[in-house]
Amino acid sequence: MRRLGTRWMACGLALLATVLGGALTLRAWSVQPRREAELSGLRLRLERAVWLHEPTDHGDTATLPALPGAPAPGQRRLAVELTVFNPRNVPLDFTSGELRLTGSTPGTEWRPSAGGPTAFTVRPAELLPVTLSFDVPSTPSALRLEWARGTERATLLSTRRPRSASEGPAGWPRRVEELPPGNVAAGSALFHGRLACTACHGNPGEPQGPRRLGPALGDFARVGATRVGGKSVAQYAYESLLNPSAFIAPECAGQAPCTGPSTMPLYGETLSPQEMADLISYLVNLRKEE
Ligand code: HEC
Repeated sequence: MRRLGTRWMACGLALLATVLGGALTLRAWSVQPRREAELSGLRLRLERAVWLHEPTDHGDTATLPALPGAPAPGQRRLAVELTVFNPRNVPLDFTSGELRLTGSTPGTEWRPSAGGPTAFTVRPAELLPVTLSFDVPSTPSALRLEWARGTERATLLSTRRPRSASEGPAGWPRRVEELPPGNVAAGSALFHGRLACTACHGNPGEPQGPRRLGPALGDFARVGATRVGGKSVAQYAYESLLNPSAFIAPECAGQAPCTGPSTMPLYGETLSPQEMADLISYLVNLRKEE
């Protein structure tokens, strides 16, 4: 048993950065959950879940050195970040083996990979970050992330293994005009809130703010229209979200050229058509104040 204090929260975030660092190298689909459950006294919140690509997904990465700990060929990895909280006034035990991914065929389930189950004692009022990953074969079918504790069970997430990058985004209309009408305020809330686009793009309203990994989007309404000949700013924004590598923006953080393949997640797997439309409405209205 290990005892961990709340100061480990920061460490958990560092761990998350490591997980996402791996995700950035491999490219990732984030699965956008934020689900909470309480079982036998413990509270658990799913903070983030990210599917990692197989390194072989990009024709061009065949020459990449094998990444230590990367999923084996033919496997997909779901990286999961949780917070466990003990609201009671007695210590409670928690083990990572309480989490499992289950398939649609009865009896198919996967436990967290690497290192076997990790056990913790969660002290009263303690908040514990936990990072897990699940390696599953890369055939497309529905999966659920479940938490089972004693006789109780909770489903934290339903997801699908992503298709390979070369297949292109499934189920999206080709033209942005076929999406439902978008709402700028809802798009702004997604950008700054749940989807945290600001983590890589900074705040478009603060051109002097810190530059991050990706291009600044403060003048996207004008700039986006000039990116790909014949493509409107809305169509370009749409394709940037579905397939970021189709066109690599010229300038990333610190005026350095962006490099391909894009490190931006593929949002086609996780957004609803309405959310996509809302985000695009927000992006096409980003103008530099004169
Ligand atoms: C992990 C970092 C990361 C996240 C998160 C991210 N992006 Fe990006 N984005 C990038 C990078 C790097 C580029 C430049 C490379 C390219 O063109 O794909 C980019 C490019 C773009 C472009 C094209 C910009 C241009 O000037 O041509 C748009 C639009 C965009 N991102 C929108 C978004 C939105 C909206 C979100 C949130 C839903 C988002 N990004 C989340 C890293 C990220």
